[in-house]
Amino acid sequence: MKENKIGVMGGLGHIGLIQAACLAKLGYKTTAYDIDLGRMKGLLQGRMPFQEPGLTELVMESLNNGLLKFTSRIKDLEEADIVFICVGTPSLSSGEADLSQVYSAVEKVARNRSNHCLAVVKSTVPVGTSRNLTQYLKEHKLSEKVTMVSNPEFLREGSGVTDFWEPARIVVGSEAEESAEKAAQIYAPPGVPVIKSSWENSELIKYASNAFLAAKISFINEIALLSEKVGADIRVISRGIGLDPRINPFFLEAGVGFSGPCLEKDLKSLIAQFQKVQRKANILESVFLVNEGQRKGMIHKLQEELGPLKGKRIGVLGMAFKEGTDDVRQSHSLPIVKHLLSLEAVVTVSDPWIKNPEQGGLSKSELPGVEWLSCPYEAAKGKDAVLILTAWQEYRELNLQKLKASMRNPLIVDGRNLFNVKDMEALKIKYLGVGI
Ligand code: UGA
Repeated sequence: MKENKIGVMGGLGHIGLIQAACLAKLGYKTTAYDIDLGRMKGLLQGRMPFQEPGLTELVMESLNNGLLKFTSRIKDLEEADIVFICVGTPSLSSGEADLSQVYSAVEKVARNRSNHCLAVVKSTVPVGTSRNLTQYLKEHKLSEKVTMVSNPEFLREGSGVTDFWEPARIVVGSEAEESAEKAAQIYAPPGVPVIKSSWENSELIKYASNAFLAAKISFINEIALLSEKVGADIRVISRGIGLDPRINPFFLEAGVGFSGPCLEKDLKSLIAQFQKVQRKANILESVFLVNEGQRKGMIHKLQEELGPLKGKRIGVLGMAFKEGTDDVRQSHSLPIVKHLLSLEAVVTVSDPWIKNPEQGGLSKSELPGVEWLSCPYEAAKGKDAVLILTAWQEYRELNLQKLKASMRNPLIVDGRNLFNVKDMEALKIKYLGVGI
């Protein structure tokens, strides 16, 4: 067992649980704190709060060997000398990040210990937060208990465990070299670049990374608009530009746009941070607008083919915000389905990992009248169009002949460009992708 003892605040959230399970696997005695007793009960009975490849095995192994423990008693974190803060920072209506959970977590840690610890913030927080928290602790006479360190996470849902083991870089922001050193040595694999810098640099690196990824997606989606009109194929264009090492091939897949719990929220928060210093984030605002346009583009394509959508039957394939996750709450699929409902279309949805609204964390009333089926062929049955919104491997492998045979009208609008236009032509399916 390793010398340091680890605590994790928000230990049942996406980042917190991956962090806790991987640190326990590295040999640290790890205590994961969370207030969600329902999730905790489920987990202790072997039910994971969300699906993430490779995570169940890790959690179960460390629970069994005693290195990982879950608790809702904050006092249990007292022996931890490093506490990772992994709580949510959701968007407020202004676009700013809501920091209440972060402040509450740090204060709880500080007030419930007699000794000192490092509070290492993994949550994505606006630039200045670590400094403001340090001041807050000082004003509340808690600085003896906690030293703030910023250490943003770069884990992607669906490959979070692999990303933990193989990070591209580790970024640590602190005021003191020894705090940065202590945080960095906890999990940085040998040979991985470690950037030790100020709190502000560390916090801004995280936002700039996510905003740049979002910008790449909106950039290729904008080129896709022209590509589609002039008879070009955006997939060939992406390959052609991505082979330039200065550009690289990643995040150049055109489609329905980005969604999920991070890119959009962080983009909004970054735009709000510009507003706070009376500067306009021209590029970032355009990135956001282009992304909104991609969602509307799906509806326009259906309208162009089918006319008014009132009474038209649409089968939507894919509710998760991307393949490899069962996260639906911040998915682009929700606003698109809601838009279809507002136009009085009759909607059936399907997703391989989310078999019903409850499983996706949605209330029954959120998508009124929507039929939820697990089989894609069933979801396509009798439909005027199928709309593909998530790039699941299962969809790439669909038997298109069978799909067509069950549809009322053979129209596929594909927000993920999963298929070959020529194959569709041969099958006499009207196929509309993005930028192709
Ligand atoms: C993102 C970042 O990639 C992580 O590095 C970061 O740690 C994480 O946010 C976070 O801040 O916690 P994630 O939101 O899990 O990770 O998912 P991504 O793989 O970035 O995908 C985001 C969205 O972009 C998805 O809807 C995906 O389908 C879409 N996308 C991605 C495209 O439309 N085109 C692409 O070429 C790539």
